[in-house]
Formats: sequence, C-alpha cells, structure tokens
Amino acid sequence: MPILEGRNITKKFGALTAVHSVDFSVEKGEILGMIGPNGAGKSTLFGLIMGVYKPDEGEVTFKERRISGLKPHEICRMGIAKTSQIVQPFTEMTVLENVLVGGLYGKNLSLSKAAQEAEEILEFIGLGALKRTASGSITVPDRRRLELARALATGAEVILLDENMAGLNPTEIEAVLKLLREIRDQGKTLVVVEHIMRAVMGISDRIIVLNYGEKIAEGIPAEIANHQKVIEAYLGERHTSYR
Ligand SMILES: Nc1ncnc2c1ncn2[C@@H]1O[C@H](COP(=O)(O)OP(=O)(O)O)[C@@H](O)[C@H]1O
Ligand SMILES: [Mg+2]
Repeated sequence: MPILEGRNITKKFGALTAVHSVDFSVEKGEILGMIGPNGAGKSTLFGLIMGVYKPDEGEVTFKERRISGLKPHEICRMGIAKTSQIVQPFTEMTVLENVLVGGLYGKNLSLSKAAQEAEEILEFIGLGALKRTASGSITVPDRRRLELARALATGAEVILLDENMAGLNPTEIEAVLKLLREIRDQGKTLVVVEHIMRAVMGISDRIIVLNYGEKIAEGIPAEIANHQKVIEAYLGERHTSYR
C-alpha cells in the first residue's frame, strides 16, 4: 500500500495546464525522484500534495485518506512537510527558534518539548553549533540544512524536497545525500525534485519524469537514464557528461 498516492491529477492556471492527468505513488521508506525541465509542473505537483492548490481533477491520498481539499496546516499535521525551492527562513529568528516553530506548528508540542526536540534535530543535521545564530546570517548550504531540520521538526513521515541541493558544491551535495539516506533509514519517505542528475540518480529508488505537465516516464534510475523520451525532453547532452 503506497503511503502517498496521486490519481489522475490535473491542475490548470487559466489556459495553462500545469499538471495533466498525472498518477504517482510512493511507498513508505522509499526515495522517489522527480525530474523534468523548468516549467514541467514539479513544484505545482508539490503544491497540490501540500494543499496549496486544489486539483481540478483527480485526488491525492495519504495513507489511503483523501487529502485534496484539506488546508496546508491540516496536511502538515497529518505528516507531510515540504522544503522550499526558495530558502526563506525567518531571518530575524535564531536557527533554533526556526526549527522550534516546525515542532510547534506540525506537532502541537509544548514550548519546552519543542525546544528539546529542535536541539536534537539540529545536532543530527549538523547545525548544533549555529543554534543561537540568526538564520539570516548563515551560509546557503546551512540554510538548506535548516530547511530540512524544519521539515523534520514537524514530525512529518513524508518529506518533499524542492531543489534542496541547488547551488551546492559536490562536497556539500554528498553531505546532503548522506543525510537524506540517514533520514530514510529512520523510516521517513522522501520525494526529491532535483536538477543535479548525479544526485537524483544516485539517491532515488525510482524516478518519475514530468514534461509540460505530463508524466512521460517512470522507472529505476538506470531505465530513466536510457529512456529515449527523457533524453530528448530533458537529459540531452548533459546526460552523457554525468554517466
Ligand atoms: N501560481 C501560478 N500561476 C500561474 N501559473 C503558474 C503558477 N505556478 C506555476 N505556474 C506555471 O505552471 C507551469 C509549471 O510550473 P512549476 O510547477 O513551477 O514547474 P517546475 O517546478 O517543474 O519548474 C509553468 O508554466 C509555470 O509558469
Ligand atoms: Mg519548481
């Protein structure tokens, strides 16, 4: 039984069909990659899962319960969290306070319990030393980790990552991949939208490919890397350089 499933999902913005009849499913403990050119509908699909948008057709289910139509905070409380494509922590607040907010929002914890959990998560994520630092003054790679820490603090079972590795160097990417594997090994389920092919191919159990809102391929990384439609629509020249 998939933990998260979308059936026949369509979302239009005026005349534009951003997501067109897309089916997807994610098993508990799986890392599902999602790739496709800019404008393919990846972030919109995340918005449809999180309740930012309501599908025009189809539905999303979480643990076999329909979540389409629920509000984002209700979906967060049920156990799904997303890291943003654009990193926007509350810059005035400390790193610790930012993570604590995740626990208060997602889990309804008391302040002291949320603070304790936030400290533990920061240690795990490698930001323990920065907990009293204002979020606005930490580096981009640290902000990416902070986003992940905030998602973990909500207690989410499914975490959606929207280009969480953009702008990182290879060493920083490797470090994030290691963290993601550890998070999965703790029983979490991850959906990873990423343009860095080596990263997404390396970490995903399975990959789905979107192009102009449609799912054009689905399979294990090796199948996707050699899929004719995917090469034409997306991988092209870059594909060879990452093999
Ligand atoms: N809120 C919105 N209003 C209107 N059009 C949007 C909105 N969000 C996304 N789009 C359009 O929907 C398409 C899919 O966008 P998006 O989901 O952001 O793609 P991706 O994340 O794959 O780059 C694009 O053509 C984009 O311009
Ligand atoms: Mg996007």
